[in-house]
Amino acid sequence: MKNIRNFCIIAHIDHGKSTLADRLLDVTHTITDREKQAQVLDDMDLERERGITIKSHAIQMDYLRNGEKYVLNLIDTPGHVDFSYEVSRSIAACEGALLIVDATQGIQAQTISNLYLAIENDLEIIPVLNKIDLPNANPEDVKDQIVDLLGCDVDDILSASGKTGEGVPDILEAIVDRVPAPEGDKDAPLQALVFDSEFNSFRGIITYIRIMNGEIRKGDKVKFLNTDKEYQADEIGVLRLIQEPRKVLSTGDVGYIISGIKTSTEVKVGDTITQVENPCAAGIDGFEEVKPMVFAGVYPIDTEDYEDLRAAMEKLKLNDASLTFEPESSLALGFGFRCGFLGLLHMEIVQERLDREFDMNVITTVPNVSYVAHTQKGDEFEMHNPSDMPDPNALDYIEEPYIRAQIITKSEYIGPLMTLCMSKRGVMTNQQYLTSDRVELTYEMPLGEIVFDFYDKLKSISKGYASFDYFQIGFRPGKLVKLDILLNGEGVDALSTLIHFDNAQAFGRRMCEKLKELIPRQQFDIAIQGAIGAKIISRETVKAVRKDVTAKCYGGDITRKRKLLEKQKKGKKRMKQVGNVEVPQKAFLAVLKLD
Ligand code: GTP
Repeated sequence: MKNIRNFCIIAHIDHGKSTLADRLLDVTHTITDREKQAQVLDDMDLERERGITIKSHAIQMDYLRNGEKYVLNLIDTPGHVDFSYEVSRSIAACEGALLIVDATQGIQAQTISNLYLAIENDLEIIPVLNKIDLPNANPEDVKDQIVDLLGCDVDDILSASGKTGEGVPDILEAIVDRVPAPEGDKDAPLQALVFDSEFNSFRGIITYIRIMNGEIRKGDKVKFLNTDKEYQADEIGVLRLIQEPRKVLSTGDVGYIISGIKTSTEVKVGDTITQVENPCAAGIDGFEEVKPMVFAGVYPIDTEDYEDLRAAMEKLKLNDASLTFEPESSLALGFGFRCGFLGLLHMEIVQERLDREFDMNVITTVPNVSYVAHTQKGDEFEMHNPSDMPDPNALDYIEEPYIRAQIITKSEYIGPLMTLCMSKRGVMTNQQYLTSDRVELTYEMPLGEIVFDFYDKLKSISKGYASFDYFQIGFRPGKLVKLDILLNGEGVDALSTLIHFDNAQAFGRRMCEKLKELIPRQQFDIAIQGAIGAKIISRETVKAVRKDVTAKCYGGDITRKRKLLEKQKKGKKRMKQVGNVEVPQKAFLAVLKLD
């Protein structure tokens, strides 16, 4: 145990986490040249393309110093706020963290939010200034920022380049010297922390664990405390480049367990595994059930694909426990599913996986967050869909989820950023200068307001310089109303949104304008209206046109005529019939892109 070091790397996106991890594997000869790929840790295609580590993994390295062998377990953490609970559990499995800061960028929002998680878990922080090879690196300034942030000594900061490999040996030395060896009692009952799991189509679920106390042996009967289920540890082992089976894992070890579990829902990140014969008294602190916060309808473009979509969703769910779905139907879109996601990135990933892995083309409706409705009678229930909105007479009040957002920006953008946050109902709770021209702003605001276009706006206002991260801080009452869109008097359920009363008027107007642009003229006038309850708040009209596509054809060229008719039919497939109005699919997403 005294020669084990468990650590993670925390960094803002693109500050060089994966590159540096690769270097560590290189220097410790964990990967041979033949095995070397651009980024070994990111093994999902999607991840590689996006350059984001979506799923955490762990990898073990051997490090020799003065003839003494050390085992270093690097636990990878996902970089995005949608997965912050997973990050927190990976961090809980470590004793130390490399805090990577890009020498050209300085401290960014995610540097800070991840650092807080690491400090909460009492990790030893090793600050590393990365990308020092770049000509525009600003090492002295960035070191000052790190000293301010951590209160450390400037000499504690290591300098490195993941690109050239400079400084990497010093990082390994610092891990051995500074990260404490795991503590825990080898003779106590087994207590293993589940920090991640992965679905494998041949082997079922592979659960990643860190042994906090006790030992686990191959063949042991084990119990997952929070799901209260028992299994046999069919295979246990450590995570090298491939899984290497072992007979026993002991206190301080990081490894995996395969126990015949078939679906990801049975394995909850943060759960504790113990022995059935000799169970531990309590689970490891910090277990939370992750709940989806963003909901949207997902519909097949072709209604006949409904069953295929269901099969695809069930498969996705096998390895993505945080995805939820239940059948729903929409007058406009037919049969589909109401899906729950951890956040917007998660939603995008699911959509992309449906497309790539299952060849399913889907329409996603306007996402909304999870609200809590309180009725006059004193009942309360969660609303995942605008159609869940109770009758206004029966409703007492609605609560919506709030976040605390950290924004780090150059001081010249403070003004416009404040205007943006205010327009999103944000309230500033703190403003702090990190250096003379960099400021950290802290805001409390409704999660629902950042679901649409907040991030894009933040980036464009600050010319890409501002960074942003957030965490949830609970529910607060809000004056929310349901805004409906009517086409020729008929409500289009898939276009309804829940929105704050103060923004409803302007939003309704822009919706109608946008739909007017997107809905093609048809053979009659189309009235587009925005309504709250019975009250119409905005209106536009698409004027009628008589459109005869064959009129253009000369002579009696029948094949040409047929071709055109075919073409028109195809075009129609991408339309949805709402009452007597044809609505193009992109109209359902229009709300996301309102200026
Ligand atoms: P995410 O996983 O997306 O959060 O990114 P990351 O932090 O893992 O960053 P990654 O390792 O993918 O590096 C981001 C970019 O910076 C890549 O284009 C790297 O090639 C480059 N990069 C990383 N380290 C260095 C370095 O030390 N010097 C230089 N010049 N470029 C680097």
